[in-house]
Amino acid sequence: MQNFTFWNPTKLIFGKDQIEQLHKEIPQYGNKVLVVYGGGSIKRNGLYDKVMAELKGIDAEVFELAGVEPNPRISTVRKGVEICKEQGIDFLLAVGGGSVIDCTKAIAAGAKYAGDAWDLVIKKAAATEALPFGTVLTLAATGSEMNSGSVITNWETNEKYGWGSPAVFPKFSILDPVHTYTVPKDQTIYGIVDMMSHVLEHYFHLAENTEFQDRMCESLLITVMETAPKLLSDLENYEYRATILYAGTMALNGILNMGYRGDWATHNIEHAVSAVYDIPHGGGLAILFPNWMKHNLNVKPERFKQLAVRVFGVDPAGKSTEEAALEGIEKLREFWTKIGAPSRLADYGIDESKLQLMADKATVNGEFGNFAKLNNQDVMEIYKASL
Ligand code: NZQ
Ligand code: ZN
Repeated sequence: MQNFTFWNPTKLIFGKDQIEQLHKEIPQYGNKVLVVYGGGSIKRNGLYDKVMAELKGIDAEVFELAGVEPNPRISTVRKGVEICKEQGIDFLLAVGGGSVIDCTKAIAAGAKYAGDAWDLVIKKAAATEALPFGTVLTLAATGSEMNSGSVITNWETNEKYGWGSPAVFPKFSILDPVHTYTVPKDQTIYGIVDMMSHVLEHYFHLAENTEFQDRMCESLLITVMETAPKLLSDLENYEYRATILYAGTMALNGILNMGYRGDWATHNIEHAVSAVYDIPHGGGLAILFPNWMKHNLNVKPERFKQLAVRVFGVDPAGKSTEEAALEGIEKLREFWTKIGAPSRLADYGIDESKLQLMADKATVNGEFGNFAKLNNQDVMEIYKASL
């Protein structure tokens, strides 16, 4: 285990009807509130009205930024920054999934930065301060509701990058499983793949003595795999939604990965795909992760075997480490296929024509990955295996 400091200041408010906490939380930070949301799901399912009623109850002066895209764009961030600067906004409220929250983080930091918010995304400048913001999460997937990361796309240049800063932890996040009832089946699947992928990114690391961390990661994967099929055939089940919602937050709020650094290459490889083709993040991960695993099996085969045996129930008797490990990877692929996730780039109409472009984007800053370093050729091989 490596030395570490854990700090996560986000207040997590979980459960039925907890939206009512808004009127206690927001006045601590301000009165001029910019509500940020997506393409309209919150209007269709009634959450918008509930949020507005809460804001009315505290006499907040309300501004709105609607239409945040899935894979949120810097153009929308810029619109939000402009509203904040012109209107003197003092609090932001993100109501939506990871895209809305990530966009809000960039607006919050951009509002306190003199230059263009894209500088913060490409790390030309560090986001040292931000407007305070809270979130009302509507989709279990990214963990953005309790972390300090954000992923923003520049559609003009086909670039999609993650950035982060301690300044952009949400002040609070409200997680009511009922708000996720209307998430369509496909988005529910992508969310499940995404949270499992976060745990897998953690799991592949080079540190020693992470027994407790390993067991926590395995427990989360097993729980999600047990719950996912039940949820997918009963989308308005409170208990299943609650389990998946809580798991999604825990998968990427820093608790699982104290004392080591996970790999995170597959996320980088996927971001290059969604920067060019605008596909859902979780769909891209489902296609790529098993191929990243096969590509890097030889780095530490016993780690893959441990996952296969403990999580996927592979019987190692009479099998080499590599054989057991490979069986585990196949079982991961089978599970994702069984729940309805895509398995090939062709499922999104992606052929070989832009593989090199995507590989160049993924390696724009050179080799990457903490468990296994990948260069341009490695990325090409993973893309080709994913066609
Ligand atoms: O825009 P609306 O109309 O709200 O519809 C959204 C959107 O179309 C819909 N949706 C959300 N909640 C709903 C709902 N529909 C019905 N009922 C509800 N309750 O779902 C669609 C997808 O939403 P989005 O926010 O894009 O999904 P997700 O939460 O998966 O976020 C994906 C983004 O997060 C980034 C991804 O790269 C991608 O850009 N990530 C952010 C991370 C982070 N900040 O820590 C880490 C992740 O690895 C990931 O990279
Ligand atoms: Zn992810």
